[in-house]
Amino acid sequence: MPILNQQKMTQTCRWHAFDSALELERAAIVKILGAAQSAIAARGAFHIVLAGGTTPRRVYEALRDAATEWRAWHVFYGDERCLPIDHAERNSRMAAQAWLDHVAIPAAQVHPIPAEAGAAEAAEKYAGVVNNIELFDLVLLGLGEDGHTASLFPGHDAGDALDAPSTQAIMDAPKPPPQRVSLSARRLSDTRQTIFLVTGNGKAQAVANWRSGNKIPAALIAPQCGVDVYVERSLLE
Ligand code: 6PG
Repeated sequence: MPILNQQKMTQTCRWHAFDSALELERAAIVKILGAAQSAIAARGAFHIVLAGGTTPRRVYEALRDAATEWRAWHVFYGDERCLPIDHAERNSRMAAQAWLDHVAIPAAQVHPIPAEAGAAEAAEKYAGVVNNIELFDLVLLGLGEDGHTASLFPGHDAGDALDAPSTQAIMDAPKPPPQRVSLSARRLSDTRQTIFLVTGNGKAQAVANWRSGNKIPAALIAPQCGVDVYVERSLLE
């Protein structure tokens, strides 16, 4: 009987407060492009995991005009909603319209989650995609008002055990649509850098819970390098 490694990782969290969402977004763009430059210089490639939701949209739009070696970028998604591939609420559609359709990243290097196939099948397929990458270079994540991140929700298995699979099939997400696919907390932690982008007044309670030590799903993302949380200052008061 294999000994399951149920050990959990512990998160090191660095908080960066910004006076406005605009300042936060500008800082995030600098960080993303800096991470890309370092990764490409060191390893010839940059593996980034995108956050979904609405918070990152303006960051993605600004990346259209970035001066970087797009042919070295490899794009993955932290989660996806089980909707038709061209549905307006798909995270992949938002990123494509805001950014990816406007830059010269080779199509074979952009990896949407095939969530239109249904959660179970898509989770299995996507595990095969990400299992080829030992460490991502940068993971971008958002924060939900209930403390969720990616599609890892409170009261659900976040896949934060050291031997957790790379992906989770979610059938009953409290944030519509109910069916989703998410990278697990463990897989999201296999990265050189992680940035959370947190804006919007509705996030204040989730931020307070996080900072007071509650194990909200966002607190389960625990890469060796720690996480950097870019947050509007008003959410810390
Ligand atoms: C999703 C996202 C989710 C999102 C948060 C924040 O598919 O819904 O991946 O984790 O990042 O819910 O959403 P907003 O950025 O819209 O506030």
